[in-house]
Amino acid sequence: MRPRSTPKPNPAAASRITAKLCGVACAIAFGSFAVSCGLDPVHDGAVKALGDEDPNIPPGPYHRQGQPCNVCHDVQGPADSKFALSGTIFWGPTNNIGVDQAFVRIVDANGAKKCFVTNCKGNFFARPEQVPKLTFPILVSVEKPPAYRAMTGRIGRERACSNCHKNPRFFDSPGQVRLVNSEAEVPADAKAAAKACPPPGDPPLLRCPEDQE
Ligand code: HEC
Ligand code: HEC
Repeated sequence: MRPRSTPKPNPAAASRITAKLCGVACAIAFGSFAVSCGLDPVHDGAVKALGDEDPNIPPGPYHRQGQPCNVCHDVQGPADSKFALSGTIFWGPTNNIGVDQAFVRIVDANGAKKCFVTNCKGNFFARPEQVPKLTFPILVSVEKPPAYRAMTGRIGRERACSNCHKNPRFFDSPGQVRLVNSEAEVPADAKAAAKACPPPGDPPLLRCPEDQE
C-alpha cells in the first residue's frame, strides 16, 4: 500500500499571509483600541452618543429611559447582559412619563405569542432565554387598559424599539412609543407615579394577564 501523499506545509507562504492579514486587522484593531476599547468605531460612536449614566439611577431596569437598550445590551456590549427585544412605552407624544405595567405583546413569524410588562419608567426588555425561538419579522402591540395601540408594520430585525421610535416625530420617525395623542390626555396619577419611580428596593415581579395562574 502506498501512503497517501500529504501536501507539504509551506511555512514561508503561511507567514506571509499571516503578516498581510495582521497588517490590516491589527491596524484596525489597535487603531480603535487607542480611542476606546471596542473593535467597531461605528458601534463605539453609537454607545458614546447615548451619554453618561444618570447619577440618580443605577444601571438596571430603570436606567436610560427611552434609549435604544440594545445598542449596549447586545453582542458587542458594553453591557454584559443581552436582550432579545427592548424599549420604553411613554404616555404622551413628547413627555418622559413612562407607562407603568403596560403590556407589550409580540407575535413572531411563526405565530408564537409573548407578552412583556413595563416597569414604572415604561422600560421593558426580553432576555434571550425568555424568547429562545424568536423569529423576525414580528408584530407588536401595546396595552394599558383601556388604552391600546398596535403597530401596523412588521419589525424586520431591529431589536430596540427606540432605534426607530426617536423623538421628535418626523418624516423619518414615528416618535416615541406612546399611548395617547396629546399631553393633555395623560392621567394626573401617571405623572405622580412617575415622580415616585424608581421605587426603593427590589422591583415588583410583573406578569401579563395571560401569564397569571
Ligand atoms: C449606553 C449603554 C446602555 C444602554 C443604552 C442601556 N444599558 Fe442597561 N446596562 C448597561 C451597563 C453597562 C450595565 C451594567 C451591567 C451589565 O454589564 O450588564 C447595564 C445594566 C442593566 C441591567 C442590569 C443587568 C441585568 O441584565 O439585569 C438592566 C436590567 C438594564 N441595564 C436594562 C436596560 C434597559 C431596559 C435599557 C433601555 C431602556 C438599557 N438597559 C439601556 C448599559 C446600557
Ligand atoms: C424598524 C422600525 C421600528 C421598530 C424597531 C419599532 N417600530 Fe413601532 N412603528 C414604526 C413605524 C414606522 C410606525 C408607524 C407606522 C405603523 O404603525 O406601522 C410604528 C408604530 C408603532 C405603534 C403605533 C403608534 C400609533 O400611532 O398608534 C406602536 C404602538 C409601536 N410602533 C410600538 C412599537 C414597539 C413597542 C416596538 C418595540 C418592540 C416598536 N414599535 C419597534 C417603526 C418601528
